[in-house]
Amino acid sequence: MADVVFGDLRVPATPGRDVLALLLDEGAEISYLCMAGSCGTCRVRVCSGAEHLKPMNAAERFMLPGSDGSMRLACQAVVTGGGDVVVDQDHLPPPA
Ligand code: FES
Repeated sequence: MADVVFGDLRVPATPGRDVLALLLDEGAEISYLCMAGSCGTCRVRVCSGAEHLKPMNAAERFMLPGSDGSMRLACQAVVTGGGDVVVDQDHLPPPA
């Protein structure tokens, strides 16, 4: 079973759901505000498993210009369920 991993938390990577929703369902303490791809607060670093997320959408490309997929918006990053996805928000500079 594929999981989304955030710190000590592991949650099943239900295909078609976004990372933020999966983590919030399990009580993760992750920063977020709009849940709509427009504030950048939910920005996460993808430590591994980026290939198990659907490609960045237009909102992510706008909010994270130049990202190669290693930075994503948790509220927009949809899991495919193909494998573990490890994300964190530690040590990130404030959103631009
Ligand atoms: S919570 Fe605002 S962009 Fe994700």
